[in-house]
Amino acid sequence: MNRKTRKFCFLLVISLVILVLFSLFAILTAKMKKNQGPPTLRIGVAMYSQEDTFIRSLVQNFEQMAQQRESQEGIRININLVDGKSSQLIQNEQIEHLITLDYDILCVNIVDRTAASTLIDQARQAEIPIIFFNRQPVMEDLMRWEYAYYVGAPAEQSGSLQGQIALDLWNDQRERIDINGDGVLQYVILEGEPGHQDTLIRTEKCIQLVTDAGVRAEKLISDTANWNREQAAAKMTSWWQEFGSQIEVVFANNDDMALGVLDVMQQLQVEPPYPVIIGVDATSEALEAVANGTMSGTVLNDGVGIAQTMLELSLSLYYQQDPAQKFTIENQSIWLPYRPITQKEIEQFLTQQENAAS
Ligand code: GAL
Ligand code: CA
Repeated sequence: MNRKTRKFCFLLVISLVILVLFSLFAILTAKMKKNQGPPTLRIGVAMYSQEDTFIRSLVQNFEQMAQQRESQEGIRININLVDGKSSQLIQNEQIEHLITLDYDILCVNIVDRTAASTLIDQARQAEIPIIFFNRQPVMEDLMRWEYAYYVGAPAEQSGSLQGQIALDLWNDQRERIDINGDGVLQYVILEGEPGHQDTLIRTEKCIQLVTDAGVRAEKLISDTANWNREQAAAKMTSWWQEFGSQIEVVFANNDDMALGVLDVMQQLQVEPPYPVIIGVDATSEALEAVANGTMSGTVLNDGVGIAQTMLELSLSLYYQQDPAQKFTIENQSIWLPYRPITQKEIEQFLTQQENAAS
């Protein structure tokens, strides 16, 4: 090897070493950059339908709380909301996609309560905890995996509280309610989606509480209006033609349907007092109606509490803490109580709501 070639080889080796050092440096700084900044908790939230008033407000609460929590925790919380459009097929695809994107936690408002097992098995395979909310999976499904949970409100309590509101009015204002004076409470029921736990149980319990107290009751008619205000208005229009003021009490499985009944009263220019109308949820419009006396009562479905619990549970699971330290968990489920709201409680309730918001 002559001198020239030796020099060339020497330079080549030096440049290669420099190149390798540079690449190592670049890789290291890129890694450090990635590890810099707060960690990100990624939560996929699947709603059964974005059209649903109560679910929309629950999810809004969830997003707002997550934002507040970001600054408190020094963490980023990235929420991806998807709308199942009332189709389990669409929702399955959305959840598969969230799993492919490797989200940390899945929160699922399942379209079809009987379809949870496949979702749980998929989440389990991917080791992503799955929190169902508001639409309760079948118990055996929920018990399939220790990282599958349900957060909701006990349906039975909401039905009984509606019944209690009706019973109290029957006892305190009999003249006003027993319009035909026959000593029997004539009622109709607007039901939510068929097969939903809240539909089945509220429908049964609201009147059971009244009759268990010894009041005679007569069901004039009942039908589903799928939680929907317009569908409820359509049903009520035809019931009013058939029964008119024979209807003394309207039990609606939720507030949107109760408001549909009010729409009909106003459209038909029925003279108040209207029949006793009782809903569930405590949506802002229903609270107004309770405050102005057009609705007799509602039952608070604690969307704020549910959202808060979902968020805290997500954080616990993300940090691999035991959620049982924060919550009472029974059969993988966490329960948020309902609360009755009539004209008696409304002022106090609204003040509490304002204070909590400020
Ligand atoms: C119920 C609520 C309804 C509707 C339904 C959806 O708890 O009362 O208004 O939102 O959930 O699953
Ligand atoms: Ca009567």
